[in-house]
Amino acid sequence: MARRPLVVGNWKMHGSAVFADELSGAIAHGADDIPNVDIALCPSHLLLSTVARGIKSSRISLGAQTVSEYEQGAYTGETSASTLGEIGCRYVIVGHSERRHLFGESNTSVAAKSQAAIKAGLIPIICLGETQSEHSKGATNSVIEAQLEPFVEVGVDAFKDVVIAYEPVWAIGTGETASPAQAQDVHAFIRSCLMKIDSRAAELTRILYGGSVKPDNAKDLFARNDVDGGLIGGASLNAEDFLQICRSTP
Ligand code: PGA
Repeated sequence: MARRPLVVGNWKMHGSAVFADELSGAIAHGADDIPNVDIALCPSHLLLSTVARGIKSSRISLGAQTVSEYEQGAYTGETSASTLGEIGCRYVIVGHSERRHLFGESNTSVAAKSQAAIKAGLIPIICLGETQSEHSKGATNSVIEAQLEPFVEVGVDAFKDVVIAYEPVWAIGTGETASPAQAQDVHAFIRSCLMKIDSRAAELTRILYGGSVKPDNAKDLFARNDVDGGLIGGASLNAEDFLQICRSTP
């Protein structure tokens, strides 16, 4: 079953309104010639409206980098999924390793955020991945199983329309990338975990690779069977590099 490739730019807390306006405009313009891939840009919350304007009438989608697990209420500083939808978001990243490690998000809260996103009609991009020390101990699969566990408890509904991103923490922003074979192995393992919940959903779910994807390594990574695109950090801050990565999907 063919899965349409998806490339997502995670701008993290970079940029200003002027930068976001110029970069989103340049990417929107260049994306017209790349019809075979879905593209999304995820700026920080306060730049969402600027980017929404920059990509208006283009085929690029908007995404946020995190969301509250609560619908509304006394949660100072949080942003609800419905508000993200109102501003034009289609996607939201949940459980990025920086959120897990710097801001204490647990496997359970990541699953709750994902559910909140789905309920509001957004597509969560659920990030999974092991740290360097877990990688060295050969614990990648068990870490991923533990990260998926709260989703398994929720059952099929948790995987109706989601994207998964495998991002080995040791490869994020380090210039070190998982080899295409390593990425394929873990992606296939993730798909086998999804199979246990719902085989059709597992076939349809796009699994992105993230971690130092650059124009010169994207093509080999995206050529693998279970690698359905990428979640791009550093290289998404340069329009030409990001577009080149988008062009590298099969
Ligand atoms: P990187 O970041 O491409 O800069 O390694 C990826 C990410 O954190 O999503």
